[in-house]
Amino acid sequence: MTENKSIHGEWSSRFAFILAATGSAVGLGNIWKFPYIAGENGGGAFVFIYLLCILAIGFPIMMAEIMLGRRGRQSPINTMRTLAEEAGADTNWHYLGWLGVIAGFLILSYYSVIAGWAGAYVLKSVTGSFSGGNATEIKGIFDGFVASPLQLMFWHTLFMAVTMYVVSQGVKGGLEKAVRFLMPSLFFILILLVGYAMTSGAYEKGLAFLFTPDFSEVTSDSILTAMGHAFFTLSLGMGAIMVYGSYLPKNISIAKTTLIVAGADTAVALLAGIVIFPIVFANGLEPSAGPGLLFQSLPIAFGNMGGGLIFGTLFFVLLVFAALSSSISLIEPAVAWLVENRNMSREMACLWSGLITWVVGLGTVFSFNIGSEFKIFGKTIFDLLDYLTANLMLPIGGFCIAVFAGWVMRKADSQQELELENPWHYQIWKFLVCYVSPAAVFLVFLNVIGIL
Ligand code: PFF
Repeated sequence: MTENKSIHGEWSSRFAFILAATGSAVGLGNIWKFPYIAGENGGGAFVFIYLLCILAIGFPIMMAEIMLGRRGRQSPINTMRTLAEEAGADTNWHYLGWLGVIAGFLILSYYSVIAGWAGAYVLKSVTGSFSGGNATEIKGIFDGFVASPLQLMFWHTLFMAVTMYVVSQGVKGGLEKAVRFLMPSLFFILILLVGYAMTSGAYEKGLAFLFTPDFSEVTSDSILTAMGHAFFTLSLGMGAIMVYGSYLPKNISIAKTTLIVAGADTAVALLAGIVIFPIVFANGLEPSAGPGLLFQSLPIAFGNMGGGLIFGTLFFVLLVFAALSSSISLIEPAVAWLVENRNMSREMACLWSGLITWVVGLGTVFSFNIGSEFKIFGKTIFDLLDYLTANLMLPIGGFCIAVFAGWVMRKADSQQELELENPWHYQIWKFLVCYVSPAAVFLVFLNVIGIL
């Protein structure tokens, strides 16, 4: 089985895989979500816990996911079945793949709506809507925009259509091409914005907020959010990285690749925070403003800096691309499964999964306007979907992946697949996936339900 290639194709090189996996990891999670949840959860201490989770949980689980994918060479559902058989274990492990497919649908449903916001902001930026705008005016633009279900629906529809088109083009045609120029450009523009943030007058305050931990601010829910975000931002726990791993040729170092992807992902998130918080403080905004934080802060910078029209437009274009390269990985596990098991063409599989996601996404569209009063467990549909996926489904999925890779899979198999030259590295990885990652997830859950 290990000789097989995936029927869906293969990456053309290690570089292509790194680009695609980084494309999946780096997205709205880094630039839109990380700053606003850091802001809502008090800053420094939250950031510290998040970084700890990336190291102790995210890193080993990412290696595990890529490894399982490359060994199974199919959609996560079928990969888990095959690998369970190989290990002589119960084939019910394939339900883990299902959990991932469902999480992917649910995440994409709201992800697409927010990506749509970024799309709309490209237009606002290029037409000069932010020019000379102060904090109140920029907030007014945002509030007016999200109050309109029709506008949100339009951009959500457009983004879903583009996503499904790219996915329908397949692994090499669509996915690889899109990410090649995107990542370096995004990095470049963020660095440029750091330059602006430095002159904003509140650079130190912004940095202090982000990097000075005050552990009295930490609650069990903020620990859960930090851990959930470590999964979300690295695209772990739902088979996205697993399915990308299944297109990875042999003889490529999984550990080194993981290091690069996780490193780039963390760097982009921190850069986004370093850009946004100084602007927030310099303009008297609230760090806890919620999902609108990015859209209420950065346009102030673009509206008031030299060349802001061009940079603002470019920034939102790149944000849309970053979202796109993540979205395609959210839906790929489902599409791969439909092609394998339902004998569908790639196009039909895209059409169906796209339609379902679009419909579910309407729940999020309405969460910001006509349905903002509709709450389940005190949360709007958007908040509920976010909590359910990032804080529950991904950590549960990641926990199971760690247990499978560490305890169920035969040692000889994981050793062979990971090909770590230094035997110590294998021992460390094994210790992390067997004990540290599952225990950490478990303890955080106990903490949330109040047992710990
Ligand atoms: N990692 C993406 C981000 O940070 O925006 C979101 C994501 C993509 C989550 C793919 C999960 C996933 F499987």
